[in-house]
Amino acid sequence: MARRSLAQSRVLITGASSGIGRELALAFARRGARLLLAARRESELNVVADQCRRQSSGAEAILCPGDLTDPGYRHALIRRAAEHWQGLDVLVNNAGVSAHGRFAISDETTLRQVMELNFFAAAELTRLAIPLLKRAGRPAIVNIGSIIGHRGLPLNSEYAASKFALRGWTESLRAELAADGIDVLLVSPGTTETEFFDHLVAKTAELPWGESTAIPAAAVAEQTVRALERSRHEIFPNWRGRALVVANRLFPGLVDRALAKLAAAGDKG
Ligand SMILES: NC(=O)c1ccc[n+]([C@@H]2O[C@H](COP(=O)([O-])OP(=O)(O)OC[C@H]3O[C@@H](n4cnc5c(N)ncnc54)[C@H](OP(=O)(O)O)[C@@H]3O)[C@@H](O)[C@H]2O)c1
Repeated sequence: MARRSLAQSRVLITGASSGIGRELALAFARRGARLLLAARRESELNVVADQCRRQSSGAEAILCPGDLTDPGYRHALIRRAAEHWQGLDVLVNNAGVSAHGRFAISDETTLRQVMELNFFAAAELTRLAIPLLKRAGRPAIVNIGSIIGHRGLPLNSEYAASKFALRGWTESLRAELAADGIDVLLVSPGTTETEFFDHLVAKTAELPWGESTAIPAAAVAEQTVRALERSRHEIFPNWRGRALVVANRLFPGLVDRALAKLAAAGDKG
């Protein structure tokens, strides 16, 4: 199949105010896409929209600030796309949060907060977007998952649950939407240089593996947009993360033991 052209395509990106979402907006703008940017911080969204317009002169970047866990806001976002563009070509579910700590001393509120944004908001926004996507020429959904959606890590149980849920749902959706010509891409980054770790909904432990192997958010964004152009189904932007997934498939017992040791080290951290 011919490469997907993103010029003039209508793209809705959630979590566009920072990190991977911000870099995705810039990568789409470089290709001449039209952007609808979503997140809570309006001032940050404005900065990103200006950067998109400056980078690609005349690029269209509009904002719709709000909280994705609010069903009313999700409806407003899709209404905005329908009224402004009369359609949608690409939906990027990128907004996400995490929590660090032991499950046993965490609480239900933390689990629900992480699931609410990372899984339910993405799923319900997608449900609303599907009728618009069905009318587009070469539509696609991009879900930003995580390596931790392939292998659970200690002190990250809520996040692992949310990203496993996202991955399973993504696979079901890909099969269901194939007949409608809607591509569904799952992106599973490893540690990435963003504000992510400053915005945890709860923190009762330090992750013992640190952030030393993080890759730039721009690299994740560029690989994501290229994968979309090539209609790929799944990518792992960080080779270390990919190596963990492969090791877990081949030697699950060994990986379990190594992670148990890391969890114990986390207690001392
Ligand atoms: N950084 C990593 O190491 C890493 C690794 C693997 C996967 N990921 C995934 O990558 C995605 C992007 O994260 P990031 O690393 O770029 O972190 P980030 O810079 O903290 O970006 C998170 C984005 O989500 C938005 N957001 C958070 N809560 C929201 C809410 N309730 N409603 C609307 N928007 C909300 C934030 O904007 P506002 O605060 O303005 O609302 C921000 O734009 C996430 O899905 C994350 O799970 C990250």
